[in-house]
Formats: sequence, structure tokens, C-alpha cells
Amino acid sequence: MKTIRIGIVGFGYMGKMHTLCYQNLAYFYRMPQDVKIELYALAAPHPVENLPVQFQKVYADYRELIADPQVDAVDICTPNYLHKDVLLAAIRANKAIYCEKPLALSLEEARDVKAAMEEYGYKKTNRMSFEYRFCPAIMRARQLLQEGRIGRIIQFNVKYYGSEFLDPLRPISWQSTKAKAGGGVLYALGTHAIDLIDWLIGDVESVYAVKRTVFRERPVRGENRTGKIELEDILNVLLKCREDVTGTLLLSQVAAGAGIDFAVEIYGEKGSLKFNQENPNVLQYFSCGDEQGPIGGFTGYKAIETMQKYGGEAIFPPPRVNISWIRYHVASIYDFITAVSGDRESHPDLLDAYRVQMVTDAVYASAEAKKEMEISR
Ligand SMILES: NC(=O)c1ccc[n+]([C@@H]2O[C@H](COP(=O)([O-])OP(=O)(O)OC[C@H]3O[C@@H](n4cnc5c(N)ncnc54)[C@H](O)[C@@H]3O)[C@@H](O)[C@H]2O)c1
Repeated sequence: MKTIRIGIVGFGYMGKMHTLCYQNLAYFYRMPQDVKIELYALAAPHPVENLPVQFQKVYADYRELIADPQVDAVDICTPNYLHKDVLLAAIRANKAIYCEKPLALSLEEARDVKAAMEEYGYKKTNRMSFEYRFCPAIMRARQLLQEGRIGRIIQFNVKYYGSEFLDPLRPISWQSTKAKAGGGVLYALGTHAIDLIDWLIGDVESVYAVKRTVFRERPVRGENRTGKIELEDILNVLLKCREDVTGTLLLSQVAAGAGIDFAVEIYGEKGSLKFNQENPNVLQYFSCGDEQGPIGGFTGYKAIETMQKYGGEAIFPPPRVNISWIRYHVASIYDFITAVSGDRESHPDLLDAYRVQMVTDAVYASAEAKKEMEISR
């Protein structure tokens, strides 16, 4: 029996999400008989009230959690400014890693992480939480692209809109502070989009970006004053990918009415694909090869039902049941656990996240310089 002892660092929104996934994996998947998952340790700077799970150890300092020889895998759910230091400590200690996005505050920090992996000959399973890769509709899109169903890709549009920062009275938090978040909507939402562009379409070669901060001041919590906001609320980017594929990336965190409005459209020579997280149960597929007729024939977008059709070891709920965003996290964590149990690599990994950070760095450089920026790989 192999026991994988998990150490969660940070128990906010994502710490809870990951914990929920580990705790419930055995409902969703036929787990290998010889693998046991133990939610073993938590690192949290303040006592967490009403913990929904009994960790055997609760540390106030993540360094103690990483130094604990019982911890096999470190799951990083802290604010962005801590990612680099926790990653470096986990790499040095040779632990498996599951890390929330973004990799780090900047490309410079991301380089330190990459350098540490090289310096320590780090080979453990390491994963980034780009969970959209585990949405069946997105997985099906990749499959259709690889089968050449829409032919050579010509262009794409990716839009990720939310409304989390539309309220001007939302107080300043780590998410709106440059020193703690590193980036605005580009890091919060755009990193997911860039990872998918990289995964589905290919290397981003250049970007031209325009950014805007809509609310330049926000209340300081508990004080009768406002503070300045440096991070962007909106980013519009023109991209060029390998083989002259051109695309747009539109990001906003101030779009009224947007829940998780994450839309991906890919147009090829023989057809097109469309996905929207607001209806994630289907992938829209158009084929130029469909039979034409004077009053329509069979042309038009076909809604491929992807629902929860994971296949493989996924056993619950049935594949016909509607899917939600939480399920992608479950699938992502299952993939991580099976990789850790087999001591193998799995993607998206830290180096995939490094590639994303190369693009985000170029996006900010372009927006500052007001010109197109190449990404040198
Ligand atoms: N993949 C996704 O869909 C997704 C969604 C939201 C957030 N995120 C990412 O997850 C990370 C966490 O975001 P969140 O929304 O959970 O934030 P959060 O503010 O809800 O939680 C962060 C937690 O980290 C804790 N923390 C702070 N300093 C710590 C330290 N030194 N040691 C241990 N814990 C510490 C805080 O107490 C808090 O509980 C961020 O990097 C964010 O970008 C990812």
C-alpha cells in the first residue's frame, strides 16, 4: 500500500477546493487498490475555525510543513506572492508539487523556480492548477484538433470575462495589490486562457496588448480612506502563434453580468470549434464538409455533448450528468494523484506554467511600450 500524504499550504478559496477534491476522489474515480490518500498537514498563518477535515498536523509556518518528512506532496494555495518561496522550499525538499496559478509574481521569479529545478535535479511529479484542461469539452476540442477535423487553424478568439471587481467599493485585498498579486486580470483569469491557447493552438510568438484600470482607487479595509490601484481590470491582446495563426484575447474583471464567461473559438480551413464555460456541457463543432442543401442541408454547428464523459476510471456521477467547474478540479487532482503514485510526470506542469509566464511578461511589456512584443523561447 502506498500512502500519499498531502500538505496543503493556505486554506482560503482554493485550499478548500483542493481539499474537497482529495477528500472525495474515491467517489469520482475507481482508485488504485494500493494507493491511499491522506490529508495529512495544513499550513495556515492563523488558526482556521471549523476545519471541515481533521489534518494530523497544523503548522503556522509552511517551512515546517515542508520539513516534515511525512509530507509527500505539497499543495500550494497561497496568495501569488508566496508561490515562489513555497515552490523553492518544496523543490529543495524534493516533494511532489501541486501549485495554484500563476507560477510566480513575474518572469524573473519564474526563472528562479526553473533554475532551482535544474540545480536540484528536481524530477518529482509537479503540476499547475490549470483546470480547464480537464474540462471534457476542452479535451474533446483538443482531440478534434489533433485529428485535423477543422484542418489547419487560421484564427482564434478567447474571451474570459468576470465581474469580481465591478463593485468600486470592493476593498483592497491581496488580489488588487501589485506586490502581492503581481498582475490583475491577466494573472487572475488570463493565465488560464494563455495555457489553453498554448495547449490547443501552439506557441505564442508575439503579442500586442492594451490594458486599462477602470477603478483607480479602492477603499482600504477598516480605514476611512482609499488607496491607489496599479493592476489592470481590462486587457485586450492581439496574438500571433506559430504558423501565422492569429488571435485575440479579451480579458475583463469588470464586465457586468459575467459569471465565468470564458469563451474559446477556433477557426480552421475545414471547420470551427466553440466552447463557452457558461454552457460547458457541449462543444460546438462546425464542419465545412457537411452536406449542403438549398434550404440548409445538414450544415450548421453541431453541439457535441461532452457533459461528464471522462471515461477511464471515472465512475461517478454518470457521464450524462451536467458538469460544473468544480469537477475539472477533481479531474485535475485525480490526474496529479495517479501521477504521484506512479512517480511520473504529468501536465500542465511547472514548465508549462513557465511558458505561460513568458507570455504574460510579454503582454505587460507590450502594454507598457505600446508596441508588439516577440516572445523569445
Ligand atoms: N485555479 C483557479 O481556478 C483559481 C481560482 C481562484 C484562485 N486561484 C489561485 O489560488 C491561489 C489562492 O487564491 P484564493 O482565492 O484561495 O485566495 P484566498 O485569499 O481565499 O486564500 C489564500 C489563503 O492563503 C493563506 N495564507 C496567507 N499567507 C500564508 C502563509 N504564509 N502560509 C500559509 N497560508 C497562507 C490565507 O490565510 C488564505 O487563507 C492564488 O494563487 C490564486 O491565483 C486559482
